[in-house]
Amino acid sequence: MFRVFTAFLFISVVYAKHEIYDGASVYEVQVENEAQSKVVSTLEEQLGLDIWSRPGPSRSGMVLVPKNSKEEFAYKLRLAGIKFQTTVDNVKEQLEIEDRLLAAASDKISYDRSNKAALPLNRVYRWQEVENHMVQLAQTYPDKVTLVNGGPTYEGRPVNYLRVSTTNFQDLSKPVVFIMSLLHSREWITQAATLYALDQLLVNNTESDLINDIDWIIMPTANPDGYIFSHDSDRFWRKNRKYGRRCMGVDLNRNYDINWGTESSDSPCYEDYHGTEPFSEPESVVTKKILEEHQDRIQLFLDIHSYGSYVLYGYGNGELPPNGEALSSVGVLIGDAIDAAKLTNNPNYTVGNLAQTLYPASGGSQDYALSVGVPYSYCLELPAFRGSSSITGFLVDPEFIEQAGYETWEGIKAGARYALNNYRMRKEI
Ligand SMILES: *[C@@H]1O[C@H](CO)[C@@H](O)[C@H](O)[C@H]1NC(C)=O
Ligand SMILES: *[C@@H]1O[C@H](CO)[C@@H](O)[C@H](O)[C@H]1NC(C)=O
Ligand SMILES: [Zn+2]
Repeated sequence: MFRVFTAFLFISVVYAKHEIYDGASVYEVQVENEAQSKVVSTLEEQLGLDIWSRPGPSRSGMVLVPKNSKEEFAYKLRLAGIKFQTTVDNVKEQLEIEDRLLAAASDKISYDRSNKAALPLNRVYRWQEVENHMVQLAQTYPDKVTLVNGGPTYEGRPVNYLRVSTTNFQDLSKPVVFIMSLLHSREWITQAATLYALDQLLVNNTESDLINDIDWIIMPTANPDGYIFSHDSDRFWRKNRKYGRRCMGVDLNRNYDINWGTESSDSPCYEDYHGTEPFSEPESVVTKKILEEHQDRIQLFLDIHSYGSYVLYGYGNGELPPNGEALSSVGVLIGDAIDAAKLTNNPNYTVGNLAQTLYPASGGSQDYALSVGVPYSYCLELPAFRGSSSITGFLVDPEFIEQAGYETWEGIKAGARYALNNYRMRKEI
């Protein structure tokens, strides 16, 4: 009897998880001008919208609308003459499909590599599993890998990362490449990029220049509290878990001190809330410390996000840094390398300045890295999977995980090799 009861409890907890999205819909919104785009933005707080991608005159946007706001949303958009159509009728159903796909994929592990340190990319890993994996890599490759605790999160978890180096970061003539994922916790597919990079550098170490001539900093989970919350409570959680009386969380990618507060929200209820002051959040301080510590050597910084298939560079207010042209051409190099390896159903990558390509945004990691002197600093937006799957956007189809890791790695390699050669040239001059 007791067992039956606990089983029932367990099931109801699992299903209650997506209850907030029961009846919520995702709409594709097409605006014709900035004024219409503003209308959508003003409805954001009023109707509790989650704007997955902001509509602009040149591209449509995706907006998640809670069940109770759908009627008013449709009314207001029609009133303003804005076109929209439903792409997901009931978000909860898509979340259940994702759960089922991921559960089925982890049941059929078909991995034949004997190396214990290899991690099959057939599913999304929980925070603790990734932590264990990093410990395992540090133990298996003690002369190449160091596990570093970058500092505590708001809730007190360590933000851990790996230093990968054949010379224990002591050879200052080597450039450093810094890659991180999951700063926005709901962007689960981005985990594949950092885990795949670790796998290729260490387990399948076939390209020796990458590990011999470059020091790597790889941080798979840049926002642990948010990431755990996105698994346990709210799949679309993006921010950290900073306490707020009305609304929780700060958008870590608006919290860096570069142009802080100019193109972001000062309301804690917005997805792009920038926090009370620059670097108010311990998680963004972690990145700051790393960038400061290796300021002279970090040649390439890649903050991996999803989705949209973009290679984006600063500044987020539309102003280009002095090396803007080089930033653009190396961005194209990265984008082309990914395009050459991508699935045919997915779109080509678009490369450009963040504000000119997508929308203005301030206080982002790629801007901060530029501002401290990293020459090649990008935000990558991995694609949403356009395969046979019925789920899209931030949701992950296990069919795409390894591919996402593989194609992104092609881009990372191209960027890293460019950075390496360029760094050598700089040293020689
Ligand atoms: C190992 O690396 C090589 C060269 O990049 C690549 O062709 C191959 O697919 C990789 N193998 C695995 C199992 O990842
Ligand atoms: C993507 O890029 C390739 C190579 O530049 C080009 O041949 C192809 O037409 C592009 N595809 C789309 C859909 O734009
Ligand atoms: Zn993001």
